[in-house]
Parts: sequence; structure tokens; C-alpha cells
Amino acid sequence: MSSRDNNDPEQLGMNVSGLRRSATGFALDREDLSDNPIVQFEDWFRYACETVPMDPNALSIATVDDQNRPSSRTVLLKYFDDRGFVFFTNYESDKAVHIDANPNVALLFFWSDAARQVKIRGRAERISAKETLKYFMSRPRGSQIGAWVSAQSSVISSRSLLEIKFQEMKQKFSKKEIPLPSFWGGYRVVPEEIEFWQGRRNRLHDRFQYTKQDDGSWAIARLAP
Ligand SMILES: Cc1cc2nc3c(=O)[nH]c(=O)nc-3n(C[C@H](O)[C@H](O)[C@H](O)COP(=O)(O)O)c2cc1C
Repeated sequence: MSSRDNNDPEQLGMNVSGLRRSATGFALDREDLSDNPIVQFEDWFRYACETVPMDPNALSIATVDDQNRPSSRTVLLKYFDDRGFVFFTNYESDKAVHIDANPNVALLFFWSDAARQVKIRGRAERISAKETLKYFMSRPRGSQIGAWVSAQSSVISSRSLLEIKFQEMKQKFSKKEIPLPSFWGGYRVVPEEIEFWQGRRNRLHDRFQYTKQDDGSWAIARLAP
């Protein structure tokens, strides 16, 4: 519901330039950084899990289509390790179509209270069906059925179609184990560059960028904020 009572273009929009945030007291120094960005990520991610009330694992993933037009959307990180960052989706969705044609992606985590962001560039690859199955089996039944129901990113005429399909699938698989849909699974984003950004006072933020080297080690550089 909108409180706007007419369509006067003069009234459209908001000026939020007065919004200010207070400093957190956090700082990021080269001596405190791990040589391994995954270890560093784990440290920040643990802190986010302890302090962010909802979806600390939410991240934005940007892809490009076949005309190099970018799109971004939120997904949930399900696990990460030395090999990369894993999320799950519909393999026929727009993002999957983009990734399959061009695996270069950008990820972004933003944890507002800590004034932190982590920016990752890398290549997304499908994980094996076996690995997807392991995760799928751990999901609640409703989510498993949900994966069957939606042809993600396609145009649909009404919400009721979704609800009807959900009931149909529920019926179809009643008292049975829900099978893994062939069109659903995980992607692992193998990082090539990871930047840790810590907001500081007076815009003098700390930024450290890790770049993967040919020998597998990571070079670390401080960037201007
Ligand atoms: C907090 C949040 C978490 C989400 N998590 C996922 C997810 O893990 N996987 C997914 O496919 N979509 C997820 N979505 C929906 C996506 O943002 C997006 O709408 C959907 O994947 C279709 O994107 P596409 O058409 O660009 O492929 C999430 C949305 C929000 C707001």
C-alpha cells in the first residue's frame, strides 16, 4: 500500500542523503589477516552468524547474459571450504543459463552492523549430482517438493498454478522419498579474487584484496577506499 495520493512526478522518489551510520570500532590490519582468504572469510562469517539476526549467509551473485548485460540476485550460501562457495538453485533459471554460457560471476556479502563487505570474483561450476543429493536429502520435505514445483525464472499466469502444482507433487510423492529433480542442484564458485572491506571513520576504510597466483598461493594488496 502506498501513502501517495496522486501520481505527481514531483512527489516521486526520496532523498536519503542525510542518512548516516556510526563507526563500529573494527579495523583491519595486514598483520591480523590470514594468508589464506578462506580462513579470513571463516573468521568474518562466524562473526556474522553470531551477530546478524537473519540470513547472515545471504549473498548477491551477479552474472552476465549473452549480451553482457549483468543481473544480480540474492542466494543463500550453504557451505564453503578451500574449493569454494556453494549455493543451490534451479539449473534452468536465468542465472544458471548465464553461468553455463559464461561462468564468470561476482559474489557480494554485506554485513551492515559490522560495516563489512566481502567481494568475490571467480568461476562457477556445477557440483556433482551426488554432492547435490547429499544436500537435498538434508532439506525439509516442503523445500524438496518446492524444488519440483517451480520452473524458476519463467513467466507464470498466477500464483494458484504454483499452489496446485505443489499439492500435485505432494500427492505424487506421498509416503515416498522425494527424488532429486534433474534440473536442480548446486554451483561452486571457485574464487580467483577475494576482497575484505572494513568500514572505518571518515571514509578511511580498510580494503585488502587477495588474488590467486599461478602456484596456488594468494597475493595480498591493500586498496584505497
Ligand atoms: C534472502 C533470499 C534468499 C534466496 N536464496 C535463494 C537460493 O538459495 N537459491 C535460489 O535459487 N534463489 C534464491 N532466492 C531467490 C533469488 O533471489 C532469485 O529470485 C531466483 O533465484 C531467480 O533468479 P534468476 O531468475 O536471476 O535466476 C533468494 C532470495 C532471497 C531474497
